[in-house]
Amino acid sequence: MDAQFSVAIVGGTGNLGSALALRLGAPGVKVIIGSRDAQKAQKVVENLKPKMRAGELAGTTNPEAVKQGEFVVIAVPYEGHQQMVQDLKGQLTGKIVIDAVVPLKKIRPFVPPAGSALQEAQQIIGDEAPVIGALHNISAVDLGEVDSPLGDVLVCGDNEQAKQKVMEIIRRIGARPFDGGPAGNAYVIEGLTGIIIHLNRKYKSKHGSIKITGVGD
Ligand SMILES: NC(=O)c1ccc[n+]([C@@H]2O[C@H](COP(=O)([O-])OP(=O)(O)OC[C@H]3O[C@@H](n4cnc5c(N)ncnc54)[C@H](OP(=O)(O)O)[C@@H]3O)[C@@H](O)[C@H]2O)c1
Repeated sequence: MDAQFSVAIVGGTGNLGSALALRLGAPGVKVIIGSRDAQKAQKVVENLKPKMRAGELAGTTNPEAVKQGEFVVIAVPYEGHQQMVQDLKGQLTGKIVIDAVVPLKKIRPFVPPAGSALQEAQQIIGDEAPVIGALHNISAVDLGEVDSPLGDVLVCGDNEQAKQKVMEIIRRIGARPFDGGPAGNAYVIEGLTGIIIHLNRKYKSKHGSIKITGVGD
């Protein structure tokens, strides 16, 4: 993968997207924050810029961000997921979609009709672009503090080449990626976030994440 690449974050004004922008910026990645409101995106960029170590950061509408990104991270609440993916369809040729969305009702996880948010996106997008699931179990708080250690990241999807590229991005942000298998595994990975939310509440933390032991390094 090229040293320099660009990542558009749809819903990048939120907790996950903003924190991810800071992490991606540290190794010099170009990040485009997308929003339903270009002005809101620009405001978030102005707030983030003083905290950026390196990299390029821009803010614009979601469709414009997608045009500029080689990778497209979907970071909106599940309520907006289906519509957002439908809106993006037709603009994704040659790109890799990274879906971080967790289906939650209030704070409880559920399995959507497609089997998972990832499979919902893949069904809508079809062959236009691969959809890879990642970052579901990471703490946005830790992500935003670029020197904090991160939990491990399970990466899943049906396109092996795209999955390897996403795993490389995860390494660049300072986390350990693990191949979590095909898209059919996504509901488990997405659902785990429900447990992490429970743990955070139970143990009064904002740092819950997962650690894989016994495999890898
Ligand atoms: N926060 C975490 O720690 C974390 C960790 C792992 C995974 N996730 C998942 O990542 C996704 C984003 O999480 P978040 O905490 O960043 O969410 P968030 O802050 O609540 O929302 C992210 C952004 O999505 C946009 N948005 C909100 N409702 C929308 C809708 N109905 N349709 C389209 N866009 C909408 C908003 O941007 P504009 O108003 O600017 O358009 C908002 O700033 C969620 O699916 C979550 O489950 C979160």
